[in-house]
Amino acid sequence: MSGRVLVTGGAGFIGSHVAEAYLQEGWEVVVLDDLSRGHEKNVPKPARFVRADIRSSEARTLAATGKFDVLNHHAAQIDVRVSVDRPAFDAEINVVGLTNLLDGAGEGGIRRVIFASSGGVVYGDPAVVPTPETAPKLPVSPYGVSKLSGEHYLRALGALRGFEGVAMRYANVFGPRQDPKSEAGVVSIFVSRLLDGQKLTVFGDGRQTRDYVFVKDVARANVLASTVKLPASNEFDAPAFNIATARETSVLELAKTVANVMGKTPELEFAPPRPGELFRSSLDIKKAKSVLGWAPTWTFENGLPLLVDWFRTEAR
Ligand SMILES: NC(=O)c1ccc[n+]([C@@H]2O[C@H](COP(=O)([O-])OP(=O)(O)OC[C@H]3O[C@@H](n4cnc5c(N)ncnc54)[C@H](O)[C@@H]3O)[C@@H](O)[C@H]2O)c1
Repeated sequence: MSGRVLVTGGAGFIGSHVAEAYLQEGWEVVVLDDLSRGHEKNVPKPARFVRADIRSSEARTLAATGKFDVLNHHAAQIDVRVSVDRPAFDAEINVVGLTNLLDGAGEGGIRRVIFASSGGVVYGDPAVVPTPETAPKLPVSPYGVSKLSGEHYLRALGALRGFEGVAMRYANVFGPRQDPKSEAGVVSIFVSRLLDGQKLTVFGDGRQTRDYVFVKDVARANVLASTVKLPASNEFDAPAFNIATARETSVLELAKTVANVMGKTPELEFAPPRPGELFRSSLDIKKAKSVLGWAPTWTFENGLPLLVDWFRTEAR
């Protein structure tokens, strides 16, 4: 089943892969991005590209008049540290920008809105790992609060304006086009530093864990979530899906794996732990498996070479 989709943030890392996955399944794709972080060359052909800010009346009108079946929302302020320093700026983009688009979605009769949320931040410091969707939501950063409030707006405005909202709670996503300057991109940072013959910086003792999911698996999950029948339940977490691997990888293991795949020997330098950093993070994916019929198919071994190739050929 295909249709017409508006992908916001489609000139960025994850959004450009999402746009590509829709095109491969026969969808008509329009990408909206203000290029504040993304690049026009990331927008896959033959998607149409509109350069606009999600807070603008142009963006709202596009959602309202574009005859879209689905709004897939990936544009965001993505930096936790920026959200700590400038919480109002974070909320302007991640909350006000979202509500502006949701207004347009309601007016335009959009059937479903897919929202890029974050399983790495909405649960805060979880008591259970791998963390299921139903775990308490206690974000510790303004970015986490803006992602969780995005899910609440989806639910409330969806009921008021007649669209279905789906929250995709990603773990740490890695793959080609991830900016090594972005703080979430530790895999990109390690690859880029190894290519430049630099040491890898490890904060704390390096035993802290994360759950790394490849961007092409994330993109496929988005396409599946666009048409799947959603659970008939009024629970807050019913239309939310963890998109992850349910596997924990420590920073030390990650450094070793990345270096192995690249045929290098990593030199590590240790720095003081970063304040507020979670010690463990991994997400339970039983629900994505049973409801979306999705499971990750990419691993570090087959995904990392694509990232390395991208660095060698396009990123520099
Ligand atoms: N990368 C991860 O591991 C991860 C994890 C969880 C959730 N997410 C979420 O996934 C989404 C995509 O993240 P990404 O890593 O691809 O980041 P990215 O920065 O590569 O992509 C975001 C895109 O949004 C655009 N954008 C930013 N502000 C905008 C605005 N006001 N108007 C229009 N466009 C704007 C940027 O230009 C960029 O192209 C975000 O919502 C992020 O919060 C990412």
